[in-house]
Amino acid sequence: MLFLQDVSLAGARVLLRVDYNVPLKDGHIVDDNRIVQSLPTVRHILDAGASLIICSHLGRPKGAVDPAFSLAPVAERLSALVNRPVELVPEVVGPQTSSRAAQLRPGEILMLENLRFHPGETKNDPEFSRQLASLATVYVNDAFGASHRAHASVVGVTEFVDVCCGGLLLEKEWRYLGEALKDPKRPFVAVIGGAKVSTKLGILHNLLSRVDALIVVGAMANTFRKAQGFAVGTSLVEDDLVEEAAQIMLAAKERGVRFYLPVDYIVGTDPKATTPLGVCTYQDVPDNAMVLDSGPASHTLFSEVVRDAGTVVWNGPLGAFENPVFAQGTENFCRVVAALPGLTIVGGGDTNVVIQRLGLTEKFSFISTGGGAFLEFLEGKTLPAFAALEAKARR
Ligand code: 3PG
Repeated sequence: MLFLQDVSLAGARVLLRVDYNVPLKDGHIVDDNRIVQSLPTVRHILDAGASLIICSHLGRPKGAVDPAFSLAPVAERLSALVNRPVELVPEVVGPQTSSRAAQLRPGEILMLENLRFHPGETKNDPEFSRQLASLATVYVNDAFGASHRAHASVVGVTEFVDVCCGGLLLEKEWRYLGEALKDPKRPFVAVIGGAKVSTKLGILHNLLSRVDALIVVGAMANTFRKAQGFAVGTSLVEDDLVEEAAQIMLAAKERGVRFYLPVDYIVGTDPKATTPLGVCTYQDVPDNAMVLDSGPASHTLFSEVVRDAGTVVWNGPLGAFENPVFAQGTENFCRVVAALPGLTIVGGGDTNVVIQRLGLTEKFSFISTGGGAFLEFLEGKTLPAFAALEAKARR
Protein backbone atom coordinates (compact mmCIF):
# COMPACT_ATOMS: atom_id res chain seq x y z
CA MET A 1 0.00 0.00 0.00
CA LEU A 2 1.28 3.48 -0.80
CA PHE A 3 1.20 6.28 1.75
CA LEU A 4 1.51 10.05 1.44
CA GLN A 5 5.30 10.13 1.47
CA ASP A 6 5.34 7.82 -1.58
CA VAL A 7 3.46 10.16 -3.90
CA SER A 8 4.25 13.50 -5.46
CA LEU A 9 1.71 16.17 -4.53
CA ALA A 10 3.05 19.46 -5.92
CA GLY A 11 0.44 20.94 -8.26
CA ALA A 12 -1.88 17.95 -7.74
CA ARG A 13 -5.63 18.13 -7.20
CA VAL A 14 -6.20 15.77 -4.29
CA LEU A 15 -9.48 14.04 -3.45
CA LEU A 16 -9.20 13.33 0.29
CA ARG A 17 -11.68 10.88 1.86
CA VAL A 18 -11.94 11.50 5.59
CA ASP A 19 -14.30 10.20 8.27
CA TYR A 20 -15.96 13.36 9.58
CA ASN A 21 -18.89 11.35 10.90
CA VAL A 22 -18.86 13.39 14.12
CA PRO A 23 -21.59 13.49 16.77
CA LEU A 24 -23.94 16.47 16.38
CA LYS A 25 -26.44 17.94 18.80
CA ASP A 26 -28.87 20.63 17.60
CA GLY A 27 -26.64 21.18 14.57
CA HIS A 28 -23.49 21.66 16.68
CA ILE A 29 -20.47 19.37 16.80
CA VAL A 30 -20.24 17.63 20.18
CA ASP A 31 -16.82 16.05 19.64
CA ASP A 32 -14.45 17.20 16.87
CA ASN A 33 -11.77 14.58 17.52
CA ARG A 34 -12.12 13.02 14.06
CA ILE A 35 -11.61 16.43 12.42
CA VAL A 36 -8.61 17.19 14.63
CA GLN A 37 -7.09 13.77 13.87
CA SER A 38 -7.23 14.49 10.11
CA LEU A 39 -5.33 17.79 10.37
CA PRO A 40 -1.79 16.41 9.85
CA THR A 41 -2.91 14.95 6.51
CA VAL A 42 -4.79 18.11 5.48
CA ARG A 43 -1.76 20.27 6.31
CA HIS A 44 0.68 17.88 4.65
CA ILE A 45 -1.27 18.02 1.37
CA LEU A 46 -1.66 21.80 1.41
CA ASP A 47 1.97 22.39 2.37
CA ALA A 48 3.07 20.19 -0.53
CA GLY A 49 1.48 22.64 -2.97
CA ALA A 50 -1.68 20.72 -3.85
CA SER A 51 -5.31 21.81 -3.88
CA LEU A 52 -7.72 19.81 -1.76
CA ILE A 53 -11.19 18.36 -2.34
CA ILE A 54 -12.45 16.82 0.89
CA CYS A 55 -15.27 14.28 1.05
CA SER A 56 -16.93 12.44 3.93
CA HIS A 57 -20.15 10.83 5.02
CA LEU A 58 -22.09 12.04 8.07
CA GLY A 59 -24.76 9.88 9.68
CA ARG A 60 -26.90 7.58 7.59
CA PRO A 61 -29.05 9.62 5.20
CA LYS A 62 -30.52 7.17 2.72
CA GLY A 63 -29.10 8.30 -0.61
CA ALA A 64 -31.04 11.57 -0.68
CA VAL A 65 -30.42 15.10 0.56
CA ASP A 66 -31.33 15.52 4.24
CA PRO A 67 -30.37 18.95 5.64
CA ALA A 68 -30.02 17.48 9.15
CA PHE A 69 -26.90 15.67 7.87
CA SER A 70 -25.31 18.55 5.98
CA LEU A 71 -21.55 18.87 6.39
CA ALA A 72 -21.94 22.65 6.87
CA PRO A 73 -20.97 22.65 10.59
CA VAL A 74 -18.02 20.38 9.78
CA ALA A 75 -16.75 22.68 7.00
CA GLU A 76 -17.01 25.60 9.42
CA ARG A 77 -15.04 23.78 12.13
CA LEU A 78 -12.35 22.62 9.71
CA SER A 79 -12.00 26.16 8.40
CA ALA A 80 -11.45 27.45 11.95
CA LEU A 81 -8.91 24.71 12.67
CA VAL A 82 -6.80 25.23 9.52
CA ASN A 83 -7.35 28.96 9.53
CA ARG A 84 -8.34 29.24 5.88
CA PRO A 85 -11.62 29.15 3.95
CA VAL A 86 -13.32 25.80 3.32
CA GLU A 87 -15.93 26.12 0.60
CA LEU A 88 -18.80 23.61 0.88
CA VAL A 89 -20.37 22.80 -2.50
CA PRO A 90 -24.06 22.00 -2.13
CA GLU A 91 -23.91 18.83 -4.24
CA VAL A 92 -21.75 15.72 -4.06
CA VAL A 93 -20.99 15.38 -7.75
CA GLY A 94 -22.40 17.35 -10.69
CA PRO A 95 -21.62 20.35 -12.87
CA GLN A 96 -21.16 22.80 -10.00
CA THR A 97 -18.76 20.52 -8.15
CA SER A 98 -16.77 19.76 -11.31
CA SER A 99 -16.45 23.42 -12.20
CA ARG A 100 -15.41 24.50 -8.67
CA ALA A 101 -12.90 21.63 -8.47
CA ALA A 102 -11.37 22.59 -11.81
CA GLN A 103 -10.88 26.19 -10.64
CA LEU A 104 -9.15 25.27 -7.38
CA ARG A 105 -5.67 26.70 -6.86
CA PRO A 106 -2.89 25.18 -4.72
CA GLY A 107 -3.64 25.69 -1.04
CA GLU A 108 -7.42 26.00 -1.55
CA ILE A 109 -9.96 23.66 0.04
CA LEU A 110 -13.30 22.54 -1.34
CA MET A 111 -15.60 20.23 0.59
CA LEU A 112 -18.27 18.10 -1.09
CA GLU A 113 -21.65 17.66 0.58
CA ASN A 114 -22.33 14.45 2.50
CA LEU A 115 -21.39 11.50 0.28
CA ARG A 116 -24.45 9.59 1.47
CA PHE A 117 -26.75 12.19 -0.08
CA HIS A 118 -25.93 10.32 -3.28
CA PRO A 119 -27.40 6.81 -3.73
CA GLY A 120 -24.24 5.64 -5.50
CA GLU A 121 -22.04 5.92 -2.40
CA THR A 122 -23.20 2.96 -0.32
CA LYS A 123 -23.84 0.88 -3.47
CA ASN A 124 -20.20 1.33 -4.53
CA ASP A 125 -21.67 2.40 -7.87
CA PRO A 126 -19.03 2.52 -10.66
CA GLU A 127 -20.53 5.60 -12.34
CA PHE A 128 -20.56 7.55 -9.08
CA SER A 129 -17.01 6.35 -8.33
CA ARG A 130 -15.91 7.58 -11.77
CA GLN A 131 -17.53 10.98 -11.20
CA LEU A 132 -15.77 11.36 -7.85
CA ALA A 133 -12.48 10.29 -9.39
CA SER A 134 -12.81 12.77 -12.26
CA LEU A 135 -12.47 15.65 -9.78
CA ALA A 136 -8.87 14.87 -8.88
CA THR A 137 -5.45 13.66 -10.00
CA VAL A 138 -4.54 11.98 -6.69
CA TYR A 139 -6.79 10.11 -4.23
CA VAL A 140 -5.91 9.94 -0.54
CA ASN A 141 -7.88 7.83 1.93
CA ASP A 142 -7.60 8.95 5.56
CA ALA A 143 -11.01 7.61 6.63
CA PHE A 144 -10.00 4.73 8.89
CA GLY A 145 -13.42 4.87 10.58
CA ALA A 146 -15.11 4.04 7.26
CA SER A 147 -12.56 1.54 6.01
CA HIS A 148 -14.80 -1.45 6.79
CA ARG A 149 -17.39 -0.16 4.30
CA ALA A 150 -17.13 -1.25 0.66
CA HIS A 151 -18.46 2.10 -0.52
CA ALA A 152 -17.68 4.13 -3.66
CA SER A 153 -15.53 6.76 -1.93
CA VAL A 154 -13.29 4.18 -0.26
CA VAL A 155 -13.28 1.30 -2.75
CA GLY A 156 -14.79 2.08 -6.19
CA VAL A 157 -12.97 5.37 -6.62
CA THR A 158 -9.55 3.65 -6.56
CA GLU A 159 -10.40 2.05 -9.92
CA PHE A 160 -10.54 5.43 -11.60
CA VAL A 161 -7.71 7.55 -10.14
CA ASP A 162 -4.18 6.69 -11.25
CA VAL A 163 -2.44 7.64 -8.01
CA CYS A 164 -4.04 6.37 -4.78
CA CYS A 165 -2.60 6.21 -1.27
CA GLY A 166 -3.41 6.19 2.43
CA GLY A 167 -3.20 9.37 4.53
CA LEU A 168 -1.24 9.88 7.75
CA LEU A 169 -4.10 8.84 10.05
CA LEU A 170 -4.87 5.72 8.02
CA GLU A 171 -1.17 4.86 8.14
CA LYS A 172 -1.01 5.38 11.92
CA GLU A 173 -4.05 3.17 12.52
CA TRP A 174 -2.70 0.52 10.15
CA ARG A 175 0.70 0.45 11.83
CA TYR A 176 -0.47 0.50 15.45
CA LEU A 177 -3.28 -1.99 15.07
CA GLY A 178 -1.45 -4.12 12.52
CA GLU A 179 1.70 -4.33 14.63
CA ALA A 180 -0.28 -5.06 17.77
CA LEU A 181 -1.93 -8.05 16.18
CA LYS A 182 0.94 -9.34 14.07
CA ASP A 183 3.97 -8.79 16.25
CA PRO A 184 2.89 -7.61 19.71
CA LYS A 185 5.25 -6.86 22.54
CA ARG A 186 4.53 -9.59 25.07
CA PRO A 187 2.84 -10.38 27.30
CA PHE A 188 -0.11 -9.36 25.11
CA VAL A 189 -3.30 -8.84 27.12
CA ALA A 190 -6.70 -8.12 25.53
CA VAL A 191 -9.59 -6.73 27.55
CA ILE A 192 -12.94 -7.10 25.85
CA GLY A 193 -16.13 -5.78 27.39
CA GLY A 194 -19.54 -4.46 26.55
CA ALA A 195 -23.03 -5.79 26.72
CA LYS A 196 -23.17 -8.64 24.24
CA VAL A 197 -20.99 -11.64 23.49
CA SER A 198 -22.74 -11.92 20.11
CA THR A 199 -21.18 -8.69 18.81
CA LYS A 200 -17.68 -9.71 19.96
CA LEU A 201 -17.56 -13.42 19.10
CA GLY A 202 -15.32 -12.95 16.05
CA ILE A 203 -12.96 -10.81 18.10
CA LEU A 204 -12.70 -13.32 20.94
CA HIS A 205 -11.94 -16.16 18.54
CA ASN A 206 -9.36 -14.15 16.61
CA LEU A 207 -7.63 -12.85 19.75
CA LEU A 208 -7.38 -16.32 21.29
CA SER A 209 -4.74 -17.24 18.74
CA ARG A 210 -2.70 -14.10 19.48
CA VAL A 211 -2.88 -13.08 23.14
CA ASP A 212 -1.23 -14.37 26.29
CA ALA A 213 -4.15 -13.34 28.49
CA LEU A 214 -7.77 -12.48 27.79
CA ILE A 215 -9.99 -10.55 30.22
CA VAL A 216 -13.72 -10.59 29.46
CA VAL A 217 -15.71 -7.90 31.27
CA GLY A 218 -19.06 -6.10 31.18
CA ALA A 219 -22.38 -7.85 30.82
CA MET A 220 -20.70 -10.23 28.35
CA ALA A 221 -19.00 -11.87 31.29
CA ASN A 222 -22.38 -13.03 32.67
CA THR A 223 -22.80 -15.46 29.80
CA PHE A 224 -19.38 -16.95 30.63
CA ARG A 225 -20.20 -17.25 34.33
CA LYS A 226 -23.49 -18.93 33.45
CA ALA A 227 -21.54 -21.37 31.26
CA GLN A 228 -19.47 -22.19 34.39
CA GLY A 229 -22.71 -22.96 36.23
CA PHE A 230 -23.05 -19.82 38.35
CA ALA A 231 -26.33 -17.96 38.86
CA VAL A 232 -26.35 -14.38 37.61
CA GLY A 233 -29.64 -13.11 39.07
CA THR A 234 -31.63 -10.92 36.70
CA SER A 235 -28.53 -9.92 34.71
CA LEU A 236 -28.28 -9.69 30.95
CA VAL A 237 -27.33 -13.13 29.61
CA GLU A 238 -27.31 -14.52 26.09
CA ASP A 239 -28.65 -18.01 26.71
CA ASP A 240 -28.08 -19.09 23.12
CA LEU A 241 -24.37 -18.35 23.52
CA VAL A 242 -23.73 -20.15 26.80
CA GLU A 243 -22.37 -23.19 24.94
CA GLU A 244 -20.20 -20.97 22.72
CA ALA A 245 -18.83 -19.22 25.81
CA ALA A 246 -17.89 -22.62 27.25
CA GLN A 247 -16.09 -23.46 23.98
CA ILE A 248 -14.14 -20.20 24.12
CA MET A 249 -12.97 -20.92 27.67
CA LEU A 250 -11.98 -24.44 26.62
CA ALA A 251 -10.06 -23.11 23.61
CA ALA A 252 -8.26 -20.61 25.86
CA LYS A 253 -7.22 -23.45 28.16
CA GLU A 254 -6.02 -25.62 25.28
CA ARG A 255 -3.96 -22.76 23.86
CA GLY A 256 -2.48 -21.81 27.23
CA VAL A 257 -4.17 -18.38 27.17
CA ARG A 258 -4.81 -17.10 30.69
CA PHE A 259 -8.52 -16.28 30.89
CA TYR A 260 -10.11 -13.94 33.43
CA LEU A 261 -13.63 -12.84 34.35
CA PRO A 262 -14.75 -10.42 37.10
CA VAL A 263 -14.63 -12.09 40.51
CA ASP A 264 -16.97 -9.66 42.22
CA TYR A 265 -19.67 -7.25 41.18
CA ILE A 266 -21.58 -4.13 42.06
CA VAL A 267 -25.20 -5.20 41.73
CA GLY A 268 -28.39 -3.17 41.43
CA THR A 269 -32.05 -3.47 40.55
CA ASP A 270 -31.59 -2.02 37.05
CA PRO A 271 -29.07 0.04 35.04
CA LYS A 272 -30.85 3.32 35.89
CA ALA A 273 -30.93 2.75 39.66
CA THR A 274 -29.84 5.70 41.78
CA THR A 275 -28.15 3.53 44.42
CA PRO A 276 -26.53 0.09 44.14
CA LEU A 277 -27.82 -2.90 46.08
CA GLY A 278 -24.28 -3.74 47.13
CA VAL A 279 -21.17 -5.79 46.34
CA CYS A 280 -21.14 -9.58 45.95
CA THR A 281 -18.80 -12.29 44.69
CA TYR A 282 -19.48 -14.19 41.47
CA GLN A 283 -20.56 -17.21 43.55
CA ASP A 284 -23.43 -15.45 45.30
CA VAL A 285 -25.35 -13.06 43.10
CA PRO A 286 -28.81 -12.59 44.73
CA ASP A 287 -31.78 -13.82 42.66
CA ASN A 288 -33.29 -10.33 42.48
CA ALA A 289 -30.05 -8.50 41.57
CA MET A 290 -28.51 -7.47 38.31
CA VAL A 291 -24.75 -7.38 37.72
CA LEU A 292 -24.05 -3.76 36.71
CA ASP A 293 -20.36 -3.17 37.37
CA SER A 294 -17.25 -5.08 38.39
CA GLY A 295 -16.19 -4.79 42.02
CA PRO A 296 -13.01 -3.98 43.98
CA ALA A 297 -11.57 -7.52 43.98
CA SER A 298 -11.93 -7.65 40.18
CA HIS A 299 -10.12 -4.33 39.99
CA THR A 300 -7.19 -5.72 41.99
CA LEU A 301 -7.09 -8.85 39.82
CA PHE A 302 -7.24 -7.01 36.47
CA SER A 303 -4.65 -4.44 37.60
CA GLU A 304 -2.30 -7.32 38.40
CA VAL A 305 -2.89 -9.04 35.04
CA VAL A 306 -2.15 -5.94 32.94
CA ARG A 307 0.69 -4.61 35.11
CA ASP A 308 3.60 -6.16 33.21
CA ALA A 309 1.90 -6.35 29.82
CA GLY A 310 3.96 -5.37 26.80
CA THR A 311 0.74 -4.65 24.90
CA VAL A 312 -2.80 -4.06 26.13
CA VAL A 313 -5.69 -3.82 23.68
CA TRP A 314 -8.89 -2.70 25.34
CA ASN A 315 -12.40 -2.39 23.94
CA GLY A 316 -15.67 -2.11 25.82
CA PRO A 317 -16.76 -0.92 29.28
CA LEU A 318 -16.71 -3.01 32.46
CA GLY A 319 -20.22 -2.01 33.54
CA ALA A 320 -23.22 0.23 32.89
CA PHE A 321 -20.85 3.22 32.85
CA GLU A 322 -23.42 5.70 31.47
CA ASN A 323 -24.87 5.77 34.99
CA PRO A 324 -22.31 7.25 37.47
CA VAL A 325 -23.54 4.76 40.09
CA PHE A 326 -22.09 1.91 37.99
CA ALA A 327 -19.15 3.69 36.35
CA GLN A 328 -16.48 3.03 38.98
CA GLY A 329 -15.23 -0.27 37.56
CA THR A 330 -14.72 1.16 34.07
CA GLU A 331 -13.25 4.44 35.29
CA ASN A 332 -10.83 2.84 37.75
CA PHE A 333 -9.67 0.36 35.13
CA CYS A 334 -9.22 3.20 32.66
CA ARG A 335 -6.91 4.95 35.13
CA VAL A 336 -4.88 1.77 35.57
CA VAL A 337 -4.42 1.24 31.81
CA ALA A 338 -3.58 4.92 31.32
CA ALA A 339 -0.68 4.58 33.78
CA LEU A 340 0.82 1.40 32.26
CA PRO A 341 4.34 1.56 30.83
CA GLY A 342 3.57 -0.86 27.95
CA LEU A 343 1.84 -0.16 24.64
CA THR A 344 -1.83 0.66 25.29
CA ILE A 345 -4.30 0.60 22.41
CA VAL A 346 -7.99 1.33 22.75
CA GLY A 347 -10.87 1.77 20.38
CA GLY A 348 -14.62 1.60 19.96
CA GLY A 349 -17.00 4.42 20.87
CA ASP A 350 -17.84 3.63 24.51
CA THR A 351 -14.26 3.15 25.67
CA ASN A 352 -13.24 6.45 24.08
CA VAL A 353 -16.09 8.26 25.83
CA VAL A 354 -14.77 7.15 29.23
CA ILE A 355 -11.18 8.14 28.40
CA GLN A 356 -12.30 11.59 27.32
CA ARG A 357 -14.54 12.01 30.33
CA LEU A 358 -11.53 11.37 32.58
CA GLY A 359 -9.24 13.61 30.52
CA LEU A 360 -6.78 10.74 29.96
CA THR A 361 -6.53 10.90 26.16
CA GLU A 362 -2.84 11.77 26.19
CA LYS A 363 -1.97 8.85 28.44
CA PHE A 364 -2.70 6.08 25.95
CA SER A 365 -0.24 4.96 23.27
CA PHE A 366 -2.98 4.97 20.65
CA ILE A 367 -6.72 5.63 20.55
CA SER A 368 -8.27 4.38 17.34
CA THR A 369 -10.72 6.69 15.57
CA GLY A 370 -12.59 3.61 14.37
CA GLY A 371 -15.75 2.18 15.89
CA GLY A 372 -16.94 -0.65 13.64
CA ALA A 373 -13.67 -0.53 11.69
CA PHE A 374 -11.63 -1.06 14.87
CA LEU A 375 -13.79 -4.05 15.83
CA GLU A 376 -13.51 -5.63 12.37
CA PHE A 377 -9.76 -5.13 12.45
CA LEU A 378 -9.61 -6.97 15.79
CA GLU A 379 -11.70 -9.73 14.24
CA GLY A 380 -8.88 -10.22 11.76
CA LYS A 381 -11.07 -9.26 8.80
CA THR A 382 -9.60 -7.65 5.71
CA LEU A 383 -10.99 -4.13 5.58
CA PRO A 384 -12.26 -3.22 2.07
CA ALA A 385 -10.44 0.16 2.06
CA PHE A 386 -7.08 -1.50 2.76
CA ALA A 387 -7.75 -4.22 0.22
CA ALA A 388 -8.54 -1.60 -2.45
CA LEU A 389 -5.37 0.41 -1.75
CA GLU A 390 -3.24 -2.73 -1.67
CA ALA A 391 -4.70 -3.97 -4.96
CA LYS A 392 -4.03 -0.58 -6.51
CA ALA A 393 -0.40 -0.61 -5.37
CA ARG A 394 0.10 -4.06 -6.95
CA ARG A 395 -1.20 -2.95 -10.36
C1 3PG B 1 -18.34 5.15 12.27
O1 3PG B 1 -18.72 6.14 12.91
O2 3PG B 1 -18.13 4.04 12.80
C2 3PG B 1 -18.03 5.31 10.82
O3 3PG B 1 -18.09 6.65 10.45
C3 3PG B 1 -18.90 4.45 9.96
O4 3PG B 1 -20.23 4.86 9.98
P1 3PG B 1 -21.38 3.86 9.50
O5 3PG B 1 -21.47 2.78 10.53
O6 3PG B 1 -22.61 4.68 9.37
O7 3PG B 1 -20.93 3.27 8.17
